[in-house]
Amino acid sequence: MTDVQRARDRMMDVHIKRRGVRDQRVLAAMRAVPRERFVEPGLEEFAYEDAPLPIAEEQTISQPFIVAAMIEAAEARLANVRFEQGDAEHPAYAASSFDRLFCASALVLMSDINAALRCWRDLLKPGGTIAFDTAAKPFGFSQRASEAALRHGVRLSYGEVADTPERCRDLLVQAGFEVVDIRKAFANTNPVAIDDVIAMYDERLDHPAWRGIKEARAETREAIRADFIGSVIADAVSGYVPNDMALFFTTGRKQPS
Ligand SMILES: C[S@@+](CC[C@H](N)C(=O)[O-])C[C@H]1O[C@@H](n2cnc3c(N)ncnc32)[C@H](O)[C@@H]1O
Repeated sequence: MTDVQRARDRMMDVHIKRRGVRDQRVLAAMRAVPRERFVEPGLEEFAYEDAPLPIAEEQTISQPFIVAAMIEAAEARLANVRFEQGDAEHPAYAASSFDRLFCASALVLMSDINAALRCWRDLLKPGGTIAFDTAAKPFGFSQRASEAALRHGVRLSYGEVADTPERCRDLLVQAGFEVVDIRKAFANTNPVAIDDVIAMYDERLDHPAWRGIKEARAETREAIRADFIGSVIADAVSGYVPNDMALFFTTGRKQPS
């Protein structure tokens, strides 16, 4: 069996079937698609990991489970679903258009998070709900990178946006929402080999959330990288680095009128 087949089998069993995707056609497609051909050169070996990977134009190829779950949802042939593309910070919708809004893994990418939340509040009908997910702690390599960066005076904003229940709450309250629910859930607990972590770090510099490192002076960038590598090596067990990641899921409500 080749490495790719092994990685694909593991993806199918651990990340897709065990997490509830059942549609046989979706499962067959996920098994057939060579994801390694759709990622940047050099990242092929991570194509079946439970994580999104950077592609061109500051975009990501979503993690396999999300792709499978989305296709399964589309297969349900819901008649009242419409896909539209646009800038979430300047949405072209009238006030009070929506019952619910969910910002999936994108809140930290907004240029002005408070303004975006206030804008989305206007788009909700009275009593409507907003939900968003944000990096919690631990947050795997990203947290390590963010801490290494901070030791060299570079602050990666995404790391602190809503990494505690209090910060999640503050975001809701400042935008005028009532707090409905704030809960933390683990997203990924697979350890990763040291070399793979370093390769992922180098690729991740293209991610918008890591812009602070990418734009730092060359010597600062090198110092952060060395610090990061030192910290992952120090924590590795038998050559593998723990990569536990947790997210906060925050839900708020616009006051009923
Ligand atoms: C981490 S990905 C999440 C993708 C998907 N929602 C998911 O959960 O798999 C973040 C996405 O947010 C998009 N994004 C960033 N800023 C945006 C904006 N102002 N308006 C719309 N999309 C934006 C990026 O293009 C990227 O596709």
